[in-house]
Amino acid sequence: MRKKIIAGNWKMNLTLDEGQKLTSEIVNMYKDEKISDVVVVLNPPFPHIFPVKKLIGDTPGISVGAQNCSDKDSGAYTGEVSAKIIASFEAEYVIIGHSERREYFKEDNELLSVKVKKALESGLTPIFCCGESLEIREAGTHEPNVKFQLTDSLFDLSAEDIQKVVIAYEPIWAIGTGKTATADQAQEMHFALRRHLGAKYGKDVAAEISILYGGSMKPDNAVELLSKPDVDGGLIGGASLKSRDFIDIVKSY
Ligand code: G3P
Repeated sequence: MRKKIIAGNWKMNLTLDEGQKLTSEIVNMYKDEKISDVVVVLNPPFPHIFPVKKLIGDTPGISVGAQNCSDKDSGAYTGEVSAKIIASFEAEYVIIGHSERREYFKEDNELLSVKVKKALESGLTPIFCCGESLEIREAGTHEPNVKFQLTDSLFDLSAEDIQKVVIAYEPIWAIGTGKTATADQAQEMHFALRRHLGAKYGKDVAAEISILYGGSMKPDNAVELLSKPDVDGGLIGGASLKSRDFIDIVKSY
């Protein structure tokens, strides 16, 4: 059975004290409200990974992850953080290919393909992001556009490895805008992505891959989005910075 995952992408937010406060609140709510069948992943900026993991401790069902990793293993790459270093801090996930990194840091499909492999080699679970711009959505070419992101970055993986990848469909026009995709729009794209995965790897493998939705998921729209058969969770930005909102999304399953 594929995992239900709610991941919080903190992006470039929160000081150490703010992050510790948020993490403590989330962990306590997760425990007090006896949440069990949803995996929660906290993806803070790099410096938070160690203290966040310390607060999570061995709480089952809650993990820490990074928002990016280098395509390099080690060496003279100032400012970079390798997948191996991230994993050494007991992080379990890493977001790869977020639209903001594709845009601001010019990350292309070829680079992201290498990053996914480095993450897998280090034992991290990649959360691979894909999604179309408003221009492409309005042109009606969003399915082939997003399919290409998938095939160009992931389809050289083995069936064994692709099953280790979590996919996050994040329509760019819904990120940070408050303009969420409708549940039917999300389901349509998730179903299409799963169909393409099935055509390449077989239906059984595709059925095991978690596909998360990201783009203005909030407590008031999470229930409908998460009710869709091919929506296996969410990748949450703004709402992940508020413990009550984030846990309410987790409880929306
Ligand atoms: O990675 C998740 C993020 O891009 C979504 O942001 O603020 O629309 O939930 P937000």
